[in-house]
Amino acid sequence: MTLQAAQKPPADSGKTLYGGKGTRRITVHDIAAAKVRGEKWPMLTAYDAMTASVFDEAGIPVILVGDSMGNCHLGYETTVPVTMDEMTFLSAAVVRGTKRALVVGDLPFGSYQEGPVQALRNATRLVKDAGVGAIKLEGGERSLPQTELLVQAGIPVMSHLGLTPQSVNTMGYRVQGRSDEAAHRLLSDAKAAQDAGAFAVVLELVPAELAAEVTRSLHIPTIGIGAGAGTDAQVLVWTDMAGLTGGKVPRFTKQYANLRETLGDAARAFAEDVNGGAFPAEEHTFH
Ligand code: KIV
Repeated sequence: MTLQAAQKPPADSGKTLYGGKGTRRITVHDIAAAKVRGEKWPMLTAYDAMTASVFDEAGIPVILVGDSMGNCHLGYETTVPVTMDEMTFLSAAVVRGTKRALVVGDLPFGSYQEGPVQALRNATRLVKDAGVGAIKLEGGERSLPQTELLVQAGIPVMSHLGLTPQSVNTMGYRVQGRSDEAAHRLLSDAKAAQDAGAFAVVLELVPAELAAEVTRSLHIPTIGIGAGAGTDAQVLVWTDMAGLTGGKVPRFTKQYANLRETLGDAARAFAEDVNGGAFPAEEHTFH
């Protein structure tokens, strides 16, 4: 769809996630109902209140405060250095900027790997201090005890499988699940996450056929990123989607705007006006 055609969400289309009219917060029950209806839905990341408010007003039903904030917002090279303090602070801003979207906070590297109790302590902080409606954590089998305890405690969990960027130092950045054995492991990880009570599973950088098979096998929704068209939902990192990220973006990203060029042009125009004395003009001046 072109940018012009997508400027407004569709008029009220009943109880849909995207285009639905309600102003109450989307919950994990709405997400489950969308899978039953066969509705495909969009998720975007956000790391601040103002950007989140734009996406909320555009009807994006789920906003992820991803640990991609590390490379996309905080200037780190990877997601690994992101701390609980940073995640809590920025998640709270995203919650304040939104009225309708389900806000999902990511548990950063080192905040849940020690075990379920550590995961519960940090997830509780995101729910109580930041106000998120759900949390996300990486890993299938290895994160099951964490998922089980959080769900028992009443915290909805989104699982993240395939490429898990917090493991970049062992995994690198490449397509996962290509061998039969890896594909089998991914499918069983996804089912185990579902059985442990996860309400959705992110599938990052996995072959489209495998992602479609996982999607058919689960009753909870799959959210793809670089996982083809067969998943229930799609997520993109907002700075990639809007063309703010500098340098090369992953092949699976579609750029819907060129904010880097737009902002750069605005900054240069302002600088030239100041430099040449054209700003401030009379209309910007008090007497
Ligand atoms: O941190 C993040 O933005 C993510 C998405 C890529 C799913 O985990």
